[in-house]
Amino acid sequence: MTARRALFLEEMGLTPLWRLKAGRGGASNAQGLDRPAPVAAPVSAQATIDADERAARIARMDWAELKASVAACTACGLRKTCTQTVVGIGDERADWLLVGEAPGAEEDARGEPFVGQAGKLLDAMLAGIGLKRGEDVYIANVLKCRPPGNRNPEAAEVARCSPFLARQVELIQPRLILAMGRFACQTLLASDASIASLRGREHRYQGVPLIVTYHPAYLLRSLPEKAKAWEDLCFARRTMTNLRQRV
Ligand code: URA
Repeated sequence: MTARRALFLEEMGLTPLWRLKAGRGGASNAQGLDRPAPVAAPVSAQATIDADERAARIARMDWAELKASVAACTACGLRKTCTQTVVGIGDERADWLLVGEAPGAEEDARGEPFVGQAGKLLDAMLAGIGLKRGEDVYIANVLKCRPPGNRNPEAAEVARCSPFLARQVELIQPRLILAMGRFACQTLLASDASIASLRGREHRYQGVPLIVTYHPAYLLRSLPEKAKAWEDLCFARRTMTNLRQRV
């Protein structure tokens, strides 16, 4: 093991894992990860047309319009309870796009994704594969507004916010998307499959290669899954190397 990798493992709290791995029989990976994402209720034909028109409008926006549109959005009720919208952060032409679920309390207060405890772990994870927030990396969430009390996003909220993320992907044109956690994975892949079943292979979102991994907040609570997340990161880094060679 290289010194850098050892440092990363220690930073992620992974070093005790080698001890835990042997006897992890009692570890649970329940944590709601295998529950399917919520399914939207049926909508009227007119509502579908309106949603399609809105998505088409968003799909034509440049960055300035997109940011203004997110900031002014009232398409779901979340804007009433959050402090501010959190559109995303980083290099707007990054090769790496990381996608999480929704802003939490600290993100809501500061207007930047992943700045709380989960964010600190994410930064350590990025450092482990030689990446740094903002440098060839863009970080976004499926939802741009914090759900009250950090409750799970609702299907209608995900549906209304998704065109923004779709446009971000088109504008950034990342080489690789790392989807973190059940909501990001299931939303981007339009699937209700578990993270466990989606890990370890290349998927596609809007034609962009996508790799799934666990959410950093989940990893804070589940030490055994950190080893899997490390595998995912190494897989993502290898995939990026291959993608760069393909050009
Ligand atoms: N969890 C997320 O999914 N996103 C954030 O920005 C913070 C915590």
